[in-house]
Amino acid sequence: MEKIGVGLLGLGTVGTGVYKLLGKRAEVMEHTIGAQLEIRKILVHNINKKREGVDPSLLTADWREIIEDEEIQIVVEVMGGMEPARTMILEALKAGKNVVSANKDLIAEDGRILLDTAQENGKDFLFEAAVAGGIPIIRPLKQCLAGNEISDVMGIVNGTTNYILTRMSEDGMEFEDALKKAQELGYAEADPTADVEGLDAARKVAIMASIAFHSRVVFSDVHTEGITKVTARDIAYAKEFDRVIKLLGVARNTEDGIEVGVYPMMIAKDHPLASVRDSFNAVFLHGDAVDDAMFYGRGAGEMPTASAVVGDVIDAARDIRSGCTARISCTCYRELPIKPWGEVRNKFFIRMQVVNQPGVLASIARVFGEHKVSIERVVQEHADPERAELVIVTEQVKEKYMERALGELQSISSIHEISSVIRE
Ligand code: NAP
Ligand code: HSE
Repeated sequence: MEKIGVGLLGLGTVGTGVYKLLGKRAEVMEHTIGAQLEIRKILVHNINKKREGVDPSLLTADWREIIEDEEIQIVVEVMGGMEPARTMILEALKAGKNVVSANKDLIAEDGRILLDTAQENGKDFLFEAAVAGGIPIIRPLKQCLAGNEISDVMGIVNGTTNYILTRMSEDGMEFEDALKKAQELGYAEADPTADVEGLDAARKVAIMASIAFHSRVVFSDVHTEGITKVTARDIAYAKEFDRVIKLLGVARNTEDGIEVGVYPMMIAKDHPLASVRDSFNAVFLHGDAVDDAMFYGRGAGEMPTASAVVGDVIDAARDIRSGCTARISCTCYRELPIKPWGEVRNKFFIRMQVVNQPGVLASIARVFGEHKVSIERVVQEHADPERAELVIVTEQVKEKYMERALGELQSISSIHEISSVIRE
């Protein structure tokens, strides 16, 4: 039986899952690939750390041992971060290895150079796990949906924030309490910034948009807002309006450029993404032939992420066996512009605390009117004789006009506070 050597760069959450899954599936590889996959070396940072069920003779702290091992044909990068992962992947490809990676941070910045280097060396660079963990979305976009012109991709691609918003919505929790619960359950990291500020989702959306629209989108192209300002009160209004608040990554291919952002959004209760609860993820897209399609599942965690990584390893092994590595590489054959964020049109929900006296609403309406913001709905709730809570829902308006209007509203003395601005 032919053996295909595998080297792991990293044995943390995902690496351990990959190690377990390759072991569990070892017997069927003969039938699915026609070869055995053999883990020959594993790079770790701390070689002395005890690792349950792992043969310690496989561990190394020297990545060159993996690159220089001629029996290793597939390198799996599951260590994360920009450097040294970037150098290791490039060196592995140049040394003639096929590479599988789950590293969204790196791919969202340097996807082009990684894919080009793979192509130049005639090797596979596969990264299904980098977007939405266990949910298949990269391969569907590159292969199953290749006959479509994709116009929209939107998704819940961060489990931590979806869990927090679900607790806020279903248990009436405030953000801080829901975050604490997410940390207790191990969803949120000790430093939750990348999740709650939308950065993790932005990286995933940049990768998805690049593939969906065949044009490179990088992390810095994505307008990014997190969920730290969403309150239980906003969620209560969303319920009143038959909506739910979700942190969405949204990418659209429009006539005048790609629109791409991550932000909390009030979506209709009957939208397919509204029913995605807890730490689950989902990606919803529209193609001219397939129409609407949605992909749902676990976006993170040891075994769901390992599921995607091992799928890629099996694909690379099949390509090696058939002598067809580098069959599908970079698919960005266009150079579409990224639309400046100010030109993107959105609807807004604005909640503010105002002085409760005649003429206040008229002065707010005047500012909106002067900045081309058309109002769809106004709801006023009295808090006390001096203070009222005002909710205004606008029609679609360019982001730049809304920003200017909000700037001017800040200077009106009868407005105590603009409490929330959420897109609808
Ligand atoms: P992790 O638990 O922190 O594991 C990282 C592993 O890499 C550890 O084994 C660590 O060694 C090793 N490592 C890190 N830096 C190293 C260095 N400079 N030299 C040698 N070894 C090094 O990370 P993870 O959660 O498994 O995530 C891995 C990758 O998968 C990241 O790119 C992440 O974004 C991506 N991803 C993760 C998930 C998820 O659910 N966790 C989901 C999708 C994608 P030690 O064990 O010695 O510390
Ligand atoms: N922290 C991410 C999430 C998982 O909460 O979805 C890793 O991509």
